[in-house]
Amino acid sequence: MLNKAMQDAMNEQINKEMFSSYLYLSMAAYFEDKNLPGFAHWMRVQEAEEREHAMKFYEFILERGGKVTLKAIDAPGTEWTSTLEVAEEVAAHEAKVTSSIYALYELALQEKDYPSQIMLQWFISEQVEEEKNAAEIVANLKLIEDRGTAVLMLDHRLGKRGDD
Ligand code: FEO
Repeated sequence: MLNKAMQDAMNEQINKEMFSSYLYLSMAAYFEDKNLPGFAHWMRVQEAEEREHAMKFYEFILERGGKVTLKAIDAPGTEWTSTLEVAEEVAAHEAKVTSSIYALYELALQEKDYPSQIMLQWFISEQVEEEKNAAEIVANLKLIEDRGTAVLMLDHRLGKRGDD
């Protein structure tokens, strides 16, 4: 049987996963608006994964004889200034999710809740993957941005031809 502290913390985590889903869906809508269907697709896949994460907690609470209690989901942001800004927000958000998974694991250790520890290990591995993917996209976008800057610098230099 799931104890009350663990149940409450897992219900909170359902809310966090649902917020992640809502945030990523909002990012998908942003990319759709910017005519970037590939980025929109990536965010839609992420969004669906977050709902699956929420449902893993949902099912686990039920399996352990607990009660699922859903809370209001905060409104996500809707505007970003660049693709890089979105990717950086995803990376920062995933780091926050990792911290909350670690906090849940700490609680499971403290409560000597062994089934929860096993279940949470899946999430610990998943977060390694999530953070790695987000960091890769940030790095790739920065590379593109740097190249853009190099082209602008060259453009600036070429524009000065004949000045000296
Ligand atoms: Fe549910 Fe992206 O962590």
